[in-house]
Amino acid sequence: MSVLALNMKPSCPSSLLLLLLLETSCVSLQGSNKPNLVLMMVDDLGIGDLGCYGNKTLRTPNIDQLAQEGVKLTHHIAAASLCTPSRAAFLTGRYPIRSGVAGSIRPGVFIFNAASGGLPSQEVTFAKIVKQQGYETALIGKWHLGLNCESSEDHCHHPSVHGFNYFFGIPLTNMRDCQPGHGTVFQFYKFLPYRTLGIVLVTAVLLHSCGFITIRRGLTLFLLTLLVVVTIVMAGFYTIVPYFNCVLLRDHRIVEQPFTSVNLTQRMTSEAVDFIERNSARPFLLFLSFLQVHTAMFASAAFRGTSSHGIYGDAVHEVDWSVGQVMQILDRLKLSENTLVYLTSDQGAHLEEVSARGEVHGGWNGIYKAGKSTNWEGGIRVPGILRWPGSIPGGGQIEEPTSNMDLFPTVVKLSGASVPEDRQIDGHDLMDLLQQRVERSNHEFLFHYCNAYLNAVRWHPQNSSSVWKAFFFTPNFYPEDRAACFHTLVCFCTPDHVTYHDPPLLFDLSRDPSETTPLTPDTEPAFHSILAVMEEAVERHHRSVKPVQSQLTAGNLMWKPWLQPCCSSFTQLCQCQEDQQDQEDQQDQEDPQDPKDQQDPEAAVGASNER
Ligand SMILES: *[C@@H]1O[C@H](CO)[C@@H](O)[C@H](O)[C@H]1NC(C)=O
Ligand SMILES: *[C@@H]1O[C@H](CO)[C@@H](O)[C@H](O)[C@H]1NC(C)=O
Repeated sequence: MSVLALNMKPSCPSSLLLLLLLETSCVSLQGSNKPNLVLMMVDDLGIGDLGCYGNKTLRTPNIDQLAQEGVKLTHHIAAASLCTPSRAAFLTGRYPIRSGVAGSIRPGVFIFNAASGGLPSQEVTFAKIVKQQGYETALIGKWHLGLNCESSEDHCHHPSVHGFNYFFGIPLTNMRDCQPGHGTVFQFYKFLPYRTLGIVLVTAVLLHSCGFITIRRGLTLFLLTLLVVVTIVMAGFYTIVPYFNCVLLRDHRIVEQPFTSVNLTQRMTSEAVDFIERNSARPFLLFLSFLQVHTAMFASAAFRGTSSHGIYGDAVHEVDWSVGQVMQILDRLKLSENTLVYLTSDQGAHLEEVSARGEVHGGWNGIYKAGKSTNWEGGIRVPGILRWPGSIPGGGQIEEPTSNMDLFPTVVKLSGASVPEDRQIDGHDLMDLLQQRVERSNHEFLFHYCNAYLNAVRWHPQNSSSVWKAFFFTPNFYPEDRAACFHTLVCFCTPDHVTYHDPPLLFDLSRDPSETTPLTPDTEPAFHSILAVMEEAVERHHRSVKPVQSQLTAGNLMWKPWLQPCCSSFTQLCQCQEDQQDQEDQQDQEDPQDPKDQQDPEAAVGASNER
């Protein structure tokens, strides 16, 4: 509270008495005024992609300013290294294993809109709680936590079921398939007998024509037919995927199928600005969940070519512009001092992302090893910035371990509610740390899952600066000298794709943040006793996990035609053009006095170029 009073001083008269009076009134006003909450999550953004985390070549002035006016977390950990579980944990404050958003098979995320898994309705998100506290709530952008259960329109996993009054965005994720010419995430040809069949056929024909063997005509015909059928099925599948998976929704209505991505960051931004304007008079929670910088990369015309890192850098620039727009509207409506703003990424940069044309798309995880889909630091150490002028002292950084699950209790308490007591919550309220009432975080242990497999554990002993991290297994990289899995595009954690370690691989992140050299009993005398403490913590943790049904089983992940959202008929490929009315509505909602101010990214780029 002293911080608040300090910042109020300039506007308060200098008379001590008056100041005191005002202070009390400021404080009580603060107590009755629930802060607005603007939570922004960039997809797959690397911690090394931002200026405020040390990037020298990408320009992120708006995010840097946010960090300058707020607090920068330098040991901020995503609860999972893949989108679906990381987001489930963020929204519920719980390890994904507790909600069943963890599976034991490969994908680990939803890959079809027409899958039946999702965030179970009995889970409680912060949106659900703050809505009960009188907040207006919106999700703009990516969801990736399921859509339907039993029919194509039951929307049992829709954001509205989880407390979001308003939704504009995509129920699944942005995929390569959502942009023509960017290839596909479905590399089924690797698993289908397609190539083998082709090789067998060509060899047989060659051997036959050279007279080495004789094959009967019937067999040749059969193989040929099989090849043609498989080709047609696969070509058909790849044609259809965008129509099935690239769906843009406004609340429960399909706006575009497949969506056109190029201007989507702009459209999401104007949605966010509109939402804030509409609700400036009441407490609101906005979860702005960027589609970028996840493949397929896109940036609107004004940002293309603005970075020296190709389309990936351009997309980062556009996201930064968008953050600036949100800050501007908060300032313009004088809401900044009553709004907690948070910015993070759902996991580390996706290093294996190389476009169909060979352009490197994956971002930069700074000094941290590996990236998305691994529990090496590069996969889970993410940017974390919190700003609330007058309530959180600006300009500092916190090096204590924090988690994206911490936003749950923090947000819930700020809304005036208390944290649910009928379930295990793994996040810790951040306010004491942010307001400098304590120096140590409550995260003594953090458990790192890869899908449903416990992959590693982190221990920050209460009385020491060490941060121990023990790996029970590590992903098999390919090529071996690159900390990434280029053969499979993401690393998998099923037993056939990992190496188990007994004893576990041990690191002290405080001395070796890049996880270069595992410790041994020779290099770390306390090796065995450290591991013993960690293994005991793992035991306790396992006991606290109640078994629930997995949402990511093969059955829950697979494409089910009867769950397919479809705005026209199947024979028309579920195709809908952009809703013109929608666009016009948006145009109308732009600020009539100063349209440039809000919507012209070109002006913004010009401005930042001049800096
Ligand atoms: C994107 O926006 C620009 C400028 O606002 C417009 O000219 C262009 O047609 C839009 N593209 C699409 C595909 O909507
Ligand atoms: C900045 O980010 C780009 C894009 O991810 C990356 O290629 C570059 O190495 C980074 N630069 C620094 C200095 O970290």
